Amino acid sequence: MFIDEFRDEFERQLAEIASGPIVPNVTPGEIRDYLATRYDFRQPNALEEVVADVEQMLSTWQVQVTHPRYFGLFNPSVTLASVIADTLVAMYNSQLANWRTSPAANEIERHTLAWLTEKFGLPSETLATFTSGGTEANLSAIVVALTNAFPEYGQHGLRHLAAQPTIYLTEEAHNGYNKLAHIAGLGRRALRIVATGSDLKLDVEDLGRRVAEDRRNGFAPFMVIGTAGTTAAGIIDPLEQIGRFCQAEGLWFHCDAAWGGAAAISPRLKPHLAGIEMSDSITCDAHKWFSVPMGAGMFFCRHPERVSEAFRIDVTYLSKKTDLTVFDPLTSSIQWSRRFIGLKLFMALAEHGESGQIEMIEHQARMGDVLREALRASGWRIVNSTPLPLVCFTRDGLVPADFLAGLRERQIAWMSEAPVAGVPAIRACITSFRTTESDIHWVVDEMNRLFRELSAQSQSNPAEIALAQSTGR
Ligand SMILES: Cc1ncc(COP(=O)(O)O)c(C=O)c1O
Repeated sequence: MFIDEFRDEFERQLAEIASGPIVPNVTPGEIRDYLATRYDFRQPNALEEVVADVEQMLSTWQVQVTHPRYFGLFNPSVTLASVIADTLVAMYNSQLANWRTSPAANEIERHTLAWLTEKFGLPSETLATFTSGGTEANLSAIVVALTNAFPEYGQHGLRHLAAQPTIYLTEEAHNGYNKLAHIAGLGRRALRIVATGSDLKLDVEDLGRRVAEDRRNGFAPFMVIGTAGTTAAGIIDPLEQIGRFCQAEGLWFHCDAAWGGAAAISPRLKPHLAGIEMSDSITCDAHKWFSVPMGAGMFFCRHPERVSEAFRIDVTYLSKKTDLTVFDPLTSSIQWSRRFIGLKLFMALAEHGESGQIEMIEHQARMGDVLREALRASGWRIVNSTPLPLVCFTRDGLVPADFLAGLRERQIAWMSEAPVAGVPAIRACITSFRTTESDIHWVVDEMNRLFRELSAQSQSNPAEIALAQSTGR
């Protein structure tokens, strides 16, 4: 393959993205009109022209999540090896449903997942699979945990159960669990919100109270979700305490480490995940902090027999396994036909080595510290507490919506709004291994200037600012 040309093109595009706007300025109508006039599909087009046109659309009409000043929602900058991997995957179109069709691809995935299984401290018999993303991995966890707790669930469904199953998590857990409880047939009300302390971590005493109360009231608690790196504030729940509680109470402990799980490979950060090794199952996304393109989630479960029970299937048109040491994703995960998801993580690791991957993760953690310090030094208040590179901050007089609009309009950076314990705050997450200290200092200087200007405007119109604050605009 033409690696040098690919690398040159990759670097050229990265440089273009880094020097260009982060946030697009386009209306749905503009894009629809453009597509309607240019692509009625009646005539063929030269591929070179189509490629150039699509690149033009993507480079101008999207938030550039690989921009070093995109401080956003866990969408990373991607490595060259992982981009080449996705091209190879598409070219060979490997089918990973069963081992026999794609022996190399299946073994590459097993090998890669075994590496991370060990980093989490899970036993070697752990069954792990690549998934489309964290949501599929979390759904897998719910289905396997139900299968574990209620043997009749697989054949007869939830309606056969004597008591309504319930899941415990905090308000800070990923919002997707609402959808998953709906999809799984549990119903959204099966989710029990456990209190958090002022540090936003799951309060294990409250968990105990809620489980006991639900049992008294005839419900069937079966699963607790602890998050390692919450979406809004990067909080790590007390995993060890949750693990001990679940063991004592016979509950399934699922650790949602979709973003924060990557910290397990860093000697500096790993101690913050203590207790993750007690999990019955773990979600971790390669397409978050491992800096590979979407969609690459991973699901790990220390009870292989439960996973096999949940996803077992007899397929008459596929030949039976003759080698029982091999593994068919089809019978141990949700998807059927499946693309070769794991190659991008394998190739990134193979190219950079473990040490290179650790350096990328620790660099981002350091940039998080630089951002926190620079903000504090210029009068901002940090309102979350995490060792991970996610910073939520505020200051008196801040109107988050106006401030964010200013940040985007001036193309300073992409950040979002995340109220922390009811305090309106700005959320900035370092998601690019390309973000440098000078990027951060430049952004903080520009933010300070923007804040001063907005404050000056509001002082000339205090009624409007009071209204904006009261309405959260
Ligand atoms: C903690 C957590 N869990 C799960 C998810 C969902 O992952 P995905 O978007 O890969 O489906 C996210 C997404 O940000 C997340 O932050």
